[in-house]
Amino acid sequence: MIKKAVIPVAGFGTRLLPITKAQPKEMLPVVNKPIVQYVVEDLVEAGVNNILFVTGKGKQAIENHFDANYELECKLERSGKTKILEEIKRINNLANIYYVRQKEPKGLGDAISYGEQFVGDEYFIAMVGDTIYSENIVIDLIKAYKKYKCSIIALERVPKEEVYKYGVVSGEPINGKIYRIGDLVEKPKVEEAPSNLIITGAYLFSPKIFEKIKETKPGKGEEIQITDAMKLLLEEEDIIGVEIDCRRYDIGDVLGWLKANVEIGVEKCPEFKEYLKEFVKNM
Ligand code: UTP
Repeated sequence: MIKKAVIPVAGFGTRLLPITKAQPKEMLPVVNKPIVQYVVEDLVEAGVNNILFVTGKGKQAIENHFDANYELECKLERSGKTKILEEIKRINNLANIYYVRQKEPKGLGDAISYGEQFVGDEYFIAMVGDTIYSENIVIDLIKAYKKYKCSIIALERVPKEEVYKYGVVSGEPINGKIYRIGDLVEKPKVEEAPSNLIITGAYLFSPKIFEKIKETKPGKGEEIQITDAMKLLLEEEDIIGVEIDCRRYDIGDVLGWLKANVEIGVEKCPEFKEYLKEFVKNM
């Protein structure tokens, strides 16, 4: 039912400099795959096969990752490395992938607006390219959409003192961890935050969001904030929040990236699990 997704990957990744001076943060490895591959695999598993990357300067490594590399494939074939060859070919054919370039990184709202022609008048997923999850939350977003037929956003409870880093919502609980959103605010001061429920960066949007982004004035950091566009959307349509039930790995800074490698190494890679646990314990 939901067939399209937009993944913005055009940011400069300044919190990760100098790592990101010449390479996209979205291509940083977490254990054995780059971050964007986790994002694309979750979308595909949820049945979302048409994916638009909103890229920018210096992000070509993302295109190369999802494209065929015949020289490499030939070499692997000749040397009989069939297992990795199959994996490489699988990545080439994961999804129908499209690219558009954001002229300058003017914010997440501006980046998502580049998806308008691609999306048309369908509901669609938007996922930031630097965050992954221990479970597939795209499936949860789509499940909630089937029930509520409106825009759906993923939420997470964080310690109150951390809310200033995120978009924060207020919401009325309607069914367990499902909330009808009442208000949204981007990076509030801790004492002014409406709650400790933050927006994680995974959205299922009504196509009306594009009209609302156009009406959105630059906000925090002089950027076009998607949270501000959602606030305008809320004046006309419902937005439902789904509190996630799994771990979120925000790879926007070095600590987040290191933590993702250790936790995913332990939790998802049986071949490293015991060794890594022992290694960390003995440090
Ligand atoms: P971030 O705000 O975390 O990315 O956006 P950033 O701007 O690269 O990070 P810092 O603050 O400079 O370290 C989340 C996602 O949205 C994309 C980023 O590439 C990242 O994957 N993004 C952000 C865009 O595509 N365009 C933008 O204008 C801003």
